[in-house]
Amino acid sequence: MIFIGFQPNACKKDLGIALSFLLLPWKWVSLRKGIAIQKAEEWLKNFFDSKYCVTFDSGRTALQKGLEAFGISKGDEVLVQGYTCVVVVNAIKWAGGSPVYVDITRDLIMDPQDLEHKITDKSKVLIIQHTFGKSADLEKLLAVTKKYNLKVIEDCAHTIGGNYYGKKLGTFGDIGMFSFGSDKVVSSVRGGALICNDEFLGNKIQALQSKLPLSTRTKILQYLINIPVFMLLKPLYQYGIGKWILAVCKKLNITGRIMYEKEKRGEQVSFYPSKFPNALAELLVFQLEDLDEMNAHRKELGDIYMHGIEHKKILPILDSDTIPLRFNVLVEDPKKLQKIAQESGIVLGNWYDDVITPCSIGIEGMGYKSGECRTAEKYSKMSVNLPTNRNISTKDVLKIIELINNFTEEKGDTRVFPLSSVREGRGESCGHRTQGGE
Ligand SMILES: Cc1ncc(COP(=O)(O)O)c(C=O)c1O
Repeated sequence: MIFIGFQPNACKKDLGIALSFLLLPWKWVSLRKGIAIQKAEEWLKNFFDSKYCVTFDSGRTALQKGLEAFGISKGDEVLVQGYTCVVVVNAIKWAGGSPVYVDITRDLIMDPQDLEHKITDKSKVLIIQHTFGKSADLEKLLAVTKKYNLKVIEDCAHTIGGNYYGKKLGTFGDIGMFSFGSDKVVSSVRGGALICNDEFLGNKIQALQSKLPLSTRTKILQYLINIPVFMLLKPLYQYGIGKWILAVCKKLNITGRIMYEKEKRGEQVSFYPSKFPNALAELLVFQLEDLDEMNAHRKELGDIYMHGIEHKKILPILDSDTIPLRFNVLVEDPKKLQKIAQESGIVLGNWYDDVITPCSIGIEGMGYKSGECRTAEKYSKMSVNLPTNRNISTKDVLKIIELINNFTEEKGDTRVFPLSSVREGRGESCGHRTQGGE
């Protein structure tokens, strides 16, 4: 079967590390503390040429602590794009801020014009998200933040190594935030980091992190177990038994979760925020060694999708610097496509199937007012993500392309997209910079 998720980055090396921590009791002393954390932070500092790098249990915790470092207080508004993850909004709330939703363009990134409309006297921070690895329109967004004196966090949960006109994403804002969650660019099952160059901010972030508790041993073991469980059960998934065992593991809390039900309801869990555990940092250090290779692979697969999908209007708008974490297409009936794909043994992704997702209390419960981000509402209802991870081969991609081409042909999916933003004809590639926008 072809999977978009289920520990998509995990390879034999990760399995070896996870099993060594799980099976060799003398390694348990280094589950929570050890040199791997410093190694990971040093690696990231070198890569981004940043003065400070501080790790956390996850990207969401990193985001929360980054916002706290700006000293936001009750009533302060944090601008964030619609078409985002519920944990981003939770991080704003836990830091004491109020989310204000900004609409997106056809590129699925923040609309600078709408940003300016949403700014008030209470606006303090802008979170700039590089959705699926596509860089935001930094030039325009940063011009707005300068004009209104806003602080900036770049949310790089979907990119490590992507560029904007030759400069690394994550180095444009006051703070850059990264995620090492299980479906991200590199994965230590769970983890996150902040980078910055400002001394005051760097010291503040370090002080905030030092007050956090260590992750519990139980949680760390649960996340380590994810690797062997997912790697071993994936081949059995098609027979039903794999799916069943995975469900049991989840139910019995044998494996760690990417997101807990409470978080989907906009509530806080008791065991986080916390520090980044050493055992997971060890996984991260090894994953980072393969970053270039994994990014090159994603780019190559992105190009194959671009060339192969016949219905050009459903394609994402990418540019030469985009490394697609997931290749997102926009179709009339995404659920039907996912169902048909599953019947052919392909599990596609549903990230961002709503303006704020996955959210079990309705997006209004997250402070969103219906109609305030119309483009995000429209495109979230059409989004399906295609895989680009290291376990996906060219043959897999060709199979997915065939499925998509049959699906769009069958459905006559000729809905009108803003054509100015999509180049027609075969042969468009990730290697061309195209400008989008409603
Ligand atoms: C855009 C975005 N930002 C931040 C996060 C949070 O990252 P993490 O899962 O490491 O907490 C996510 C989660 O998937 C995300 O999609």
